Amino acid sequence: MPHDQRAALAQYARRAPVYDLELALFEPVRRRAIARLALRPGEVVVDVGCGTGLSLPLLHAAVGSAGRIIGVEPSPEMLALARERARREQWRNVTLVAASALDAQLPEPADAVLFHFTHDVMRDAAALAHVLGQVKPGARVVACGLRWAAPWAWPVNLMVLPAALRSVTSLEGMQRPWSHLERLVRIAQVESLLAGGVYLASGVRAADHKPRKP
Ligand SMILES: C[S@@+](CC[C@H](N)C(=O)[O-])C[C@H]1O[C@@H](n2cnc3c(N)ncnc32)[C@H](O)[C@@H]1O
Repeated sequence: MPHDQRAALAQYARRAPVYDLELALFEPVRRRAIARLALRPGEVVVDVGCGTGLSLPLLHAAVGSAGRIIGVEPSPEMLALARERARREQWRNVTLVAASALDAQLPEPADAVLFHFTHDVMRDAAALAHVLGQVKPGARVVACGLRWAAPWAWPVNLMVLPAALRSVTSLEGMQRPWSHLERLVRIAQVESLLAGGVYLASGVRAADHKPRKP
Protein backbone atom coordinates (compact mmCIF):
# COMPACT_ATOMS: atom_id res chain seq x y z
CA MET A 1 0.00 0.00 0.00
CA PRO A 2 1.58 3.32 -0.99
CA HIS A 3 0.05 5.29 1.88
CA ASP A 4 -0.01 4.16 5.51
CA GLN A 5 -2.32 6.44 7.50
CA ARG A 6 -1.27 5.05 10.87
CA ALA A 7 2.40 5.63 10.06
CA ALA A 8 1.58 9.16 8.85
CA LEU A 9 -0.21 9.97 12.12
CA ALA A 10 2.75 8.72 14.16
CA GLN A 11 5.20 10.62 11.95
CA TYR A 12 3.40 13.94 12.37
CA ALA A 13 2.67 13.45 16.08
CA ARG A 14 6.48 13.38 16.53
CA ARG A 15 7.18 16.15 14.07
CA ALA A 16 4.53 18.73 14.98
CA PRO A 17 6.59 20.63 17.62
CA VAL A 18 9.48 21.31 15.20
CA TYR A 19 7.58 21.35 11.93
CA ASP A 20 7.43 25.12 11.30
CA LEU A 21 11.16 25.49 11.90
CA GLU A 22 11.99 22.67 9.48
CA LEU A 23 9.85 24.15 6.71
CA ALA A 24 11.46 27.61 6.82
CA LEU A 25 13.74 26.78 3.87
CA PHE A 26 10.73 26.02 1.66
CA GLU A 27 8.77 29.22 2.32
CA PRO A 28 9.60 30.75 -1.11
CA VAL A 29 8.04 27.63 -2.69
CA ARG A 30 4.90 28.11 -0.59
CA ARG A 31 4.61 31.75 -1.71
CA ARG A 32 4.99 30.74 -5.34
CA ALA A 33 2.47 27.90 -5.05
CA ILE A 34 -0.15 30.11 -3.44
CA ALA A 35 0.43 32.84 -6.03
CA ARG A 36 -0.26 30.19 -8.71
CA LEU A 37 -3.73 29.64 -7.22
CA ALA A 38 -4.61 33.18 -8.42
CA LEU A 39 -7.05 33.61 -5.55
CA ARG A 40 -9.52 36.47 -5.58
CA PRO A 41 -11.22 38.16 -2.63
CA GLY A 42 -14.34 36.27 -1.57
CA GLU A 43 -13.28 32.87 -2.94
CA VAL A 44 -13.29 29.54 -1.13
CA VAL A 45 -9.98 27.69 -0.98
CA VAL A 46 -9.17 24.24 0.42
CA ASP A 47 -5.76 23.51 1.93
CA VAL A 48 -5.49 19.71 1.86
CA GLY A 49 -3.14 18.35 4.53
CA CYS A 50 -2.91 21.85 6.00
CA GLY A 51 -0.57 20.71 8.79
CA THR A 52 0.18 23.44 11.32
CA GLY A 53 -1.48 26.02 9.08
CA LEU A 54 1.65 27.61 7.64
CA SER A 55 -0.24 28.44 4.44
CA LEU A 56 -3.18 30.04 6.25
CA PRO A 57 -1.77 33.60 6.47
CA LEU A 58 -1.11 33.79 2.71
CA LEU A 59 -4.45 32.16 1.86
CA HIS A 60 -6.24 34.53 4.21
CA ALA A 61 -4.51 37.55 2.71
CA ALA A 62 -5.56 36.42 -0.77
CA VAL A 63 -9.25 35.64 -0.19
CA GLY A 64 -9.79 38.34 2.43
CA SER A 65 -12.34 38.31 5.21
CA ALA A 66 -15.18 37.77 2.70
CA GLY A 67 -13.56 34.53 1.49
CA ARG A 68 -13.39 31.18 3.23
CA ILE A 69 -10.51 28.84 3.91
CA ILE A 70 -11.03 25.15 4.60
CA GLY A 71 -8.11 23.18 6.05
CA VAL A 72 -8.19 19.38 6.00
CA GLU A 73 -5.81 17.62 8.37
CA PRO A 74 -5.87 14.16 10.02
CA SER A 75 -3.03 14.64 12.53
CA PRO A 76 -4.44 15.95 15.85
CA GLU A 77 -1.06 17.41 16.82
CA MET A 78 -0.62 19.31 13.55
CA LEU A 79 -4.25 20.43 13.52
CA ALA A 80 -4.03 21.76 17.08
CA LEU A 81 -1.27 24.14 15.94
CA ALA A 82 -3.34 25.24 12.94
CA ARG A 83 -6.31 25.89 15.24
CA GLU A 84 -4.14 27.90 17.60
CA ARG A 85 -2.86 29.99 14.67
CA ALA A 86 -6.40 30.75 13.47
CA ARG A 87 -7.52 31.55 17.03
CA ARG A 88 -4.53 33.86 17.62
CA GLU A 89 -5.26 35.75 14.40
CA GLN A 90 -8.99 35.84 15.17
CA TRP A 91 -9.86 34.53 11.72
CA ARG A 92 -13.56 33.72 11.61
CA ASN A 93 -13.50 32.42 8.05
CA VAL A 94 -11.21 29.42 8.60
CA THR A 95 -12.83 25.99 8.96
CA LEU A 96 -10.54 23.16 10.00
CA VAL A 97 -11.75 19.67 9.19
CA ALA A 98 -10.21 16.90 11.30
CA ALA A 99 -10.11 14.13 8.69
CA SER A 100 -7.98 12.50 6.06
CA ALA A 101 -8.42 13.59 2.45
CA LEU A 102 -10.16 10.30 1.81
CA ASP A 103 -12.94 11.00 4.33
CA ALA A 104 -13.17 14.79 4.53
CA GLN A 105 -16.54 16.40 3.87
CA LEU A 106 -16.01 19.96 2.72
CA PRO A 107 -18.56 22.42 4.12
CA GLU A 108 -18.99 24.06 0.70
CA PRO A 109 -17.69 23.68 -2.87
CA ALA A 110 -14.30 25.29 -3.39
CA ASP A 111 -12.93 27.62 -6.06
CA ALA A 112 -9.36 26.47 -5.52
CA VAL A 113 -7.42 23.61 -3.95
CA LEU A 114 -3.90 23.51 -2.58
CA PHE A 115 -1.84 20.35 -2.01
CA HIS A 116 1.35 21.69 -0.47
CA PHE A 117 3.93 19.02 0.38
CA THR A 118 1.33 16.31 0.75
CA HIS A 119 2.95 13.41 -1.09
CA ASP A 120 0.89 10.76 0.73
CA VAL A 121 -2.30 12.40 -0.51
CA MET A 122 -0.92 12.86 -4.02
CA ARG A 123 -0.27 9.11 -4.23
CA ASP A 124 -3.78 8.18 -3.08
CA ALA A 125 -5.95 8.30 -6.21
CA ALA A 126 -9.17 7.70 -4.24
CA ALA A 127 -8.41 10.55 -1.82
CA LEU A 128 -7.73 12.94 -4.70
CA ALA A 129 -10.99 11.93 -6.40
CA HIS A 130 -12.87 12.36 -3.12
CA VAL A 131 -11.62 15.91 -2.55
CA LEU A 132 -11.85 17.00 -6.17
CA GLY A 133 -15.38 15.62 -6.36
CA GLN A 134 -16.38 18.38 -3.95
CA VAL A 135 -15.01 21.42 -5.79
CA LYS A 136 -16.62 23.74 -8.33
CA PRO A 137 -16.18 22.96 -12.04
CA GLY A 138 -13.21 25.00 -13.19
CA ALA A 139 -11.62 25.09 -9.73
CA ARG A 140 -7.91 25.89 -9.84
CA VAL A 141 -5.64 23.24 -8.40
CA VAL A 142 -2.02 23.61 -7.33
CA ALA A 143 0.17 20.81 -6.03
CA CYS A 144 3.79 21.01 -5.04
CA GLY A 145 6.29 18.99 -3.11
CA LEU A 146 9.42 16.91 -3.21
CA ARG A 147 10.32 14.83 -6.22
CA TRP A 148 13.39 13.01 -7.49
CA ALA A 149 15.61 15.23 -9.59
CA ALA A 150 17.24 13.81 -12.73
CA PRO A 151 19.68 10.95 -11.95
CA TRP A 152 22.70 13.10 -12.87
CA ALA A 153 21.57 15.62 -10.23
CA TRP A 154 22.31 13.05 -7.50
CA PRO A 155 23.55 15.68 -5.00
CA VAL A 156 20.04 17.16 -5.13
CA ASN A 157 18.56 13.73 -4.51
CA LEU A 158 20.87 13.32 -1.52
CA MET A 159 19.01 16.33 -0.05
CA VAL A 160 15.58 15.15 -1.20
CA LEU A 161 15.92 11.69 0.37
CA PRO A 162 16.21 12.66 4.07
CA ALA A 163 13.55 15.34 3.64
CA ALA A 164 11.22 12.78 2.05
CA LEU A 165 11.89 10.16 4.70
CA ARG A 166 10.74 12.68 7.30
CA SER A 167 7.60 13.67 5.38
CA VAL A 168 6.09 10.71 3.57
CA THR A 169 5.21 7.10 4.37
CA SER A 170 6.28 5.77 0.98
CA LEU A 171 8.70 6.95 -1.69
CA GLU A 172 6.42 5.47 -4.37
CA GLY A 173 5.70 7.93 -7.18
CA MET A 174 8.48 10.39 -6.34
CA GLN A 175 9.45 10.47 -10.02
CA ARG A 176 6.16 12.04 -11.04
CA PRO A 177 4.07 12.74 -7.93
CA TRP A 178 1.25 14.42 -9.90
CA SER A 179 0.53 11.32 -12.04
CA HIS A 180 -2.80 10.52 -10.30
CA LEU A 181 -3.77 14.20 -10.20
CA GLU A 182 -3.45 14.57 -13.95
CA ARG A 183 -6.30 12.10 -14.38
CA LEU A 184 -8.62 14.55 -12.61
CA VAL A 185 -7.12 17.92 -13.42
CA ARG A 186 -6.10 19.51 -16.71
CA ILE A 187 -2.51 20.31 -15.75
CA ALA A 188 -1.34 23.46 -17.52
CA GLN A 189 2.16 23.66 -16.14
CA VAL A 190 4.68 21.69 -14.09
CA GLU A 191 7.53 23.85 -12.84
CA SER A 192 10.79 22.47 -11.55
CA LEU A 193 12.14 24.30 -8.48
CA LEU A 194 15.16 24.00 -6.15
CA ALA A 195 17.38 22.40 -8.79
CA GLY A 196 14.70 19.85 -9.70
CA GLY A 197 14.05 18.55 -6.17
CA VAL A 198 10.65 20.24 -5.96
CA TYR A 199 7.78 20.32 -8.48
CA LEU A 200 4.91 22.78 -8.74
CA ALA A 201 1.98 21.56 -10.85
CA SER A 202 -0.98 23.80 -11.59
CA GLY A 203 -4.17 23.31 -13.53
CA VAL A 204 -7.92 23.33 -13.59
CA ARG A 205 -10.51 20.78 -12.47
CA ALA A 206 -12.48 20.50 -15.68
CA ALA A 207 -15.59 18.30 -15.87
CA ASP A 208 -14.80 17.28 -19.46
CA HIS A 209 -11.13 16.51 -18.77
CA LYS A 210 -9.98 13.37 -20.60
CA PRO A 211 -6.58 12.29 -19.33
CA ARG A 212 -4.01 11.16 -21.87
CA LYS A 213 -3.30 7.44 -21.89
CA PRO A 214 -0.17 6.72 -19.80
C1 LIG B 1 4.72 17.80 4.98
S1 LIG B 1 3.22 18.15 5.83
C2 LIG B 1 2.61 19.55 4.91
C3 LIG B 1 1.76 20.46 5.76
C4 LIG B 1 1.32 21.74 5.07
N1 LIG B 1 0.61 21.47 3.84
C5 LIG B 1 2.48 22.62 4.80
O1 LIG B 1 2.75 22.91 3.64
O2 LIG B 1 3.15 23.07 5.73
C6 LIG B 1 2.14 16.86 5.26
C7 LIG B 1 0.78 16.93 5.94
O3 LIG B 1 -0.11 16.03 5.28
C8 LIG B 1 -0.90 15.42 6.26
N2 LIG B 1 -1.47 14.17 5.75
C9 LIG B 1 -0.92 12.93 5.73
N3 LIG B 1 -1.78 12.04 5.22
C10 LIG B 1 -2.89 12.74 4.87
C11 LIG B 1 -4.13 12.37 4.30
N4 LIG B 1 -4.41 11.12 3.95
N5 LIG B 1 -5.07 13.33 4.11
C12 LIG B 1 -4.80 14.63 4.44
N6 LIG B 1 -3.62 15.02 5.00
C13 LIG B 1 -2.69 14.09 5.21
C14 LIG B 1 0.05 15.20 7.43
O4 LIG B 1 -0.63 14.94 8.64
C15 LIG B 1 0.83 16.50 7.41
O5 LIG B 1 0.24 17.48 8.20
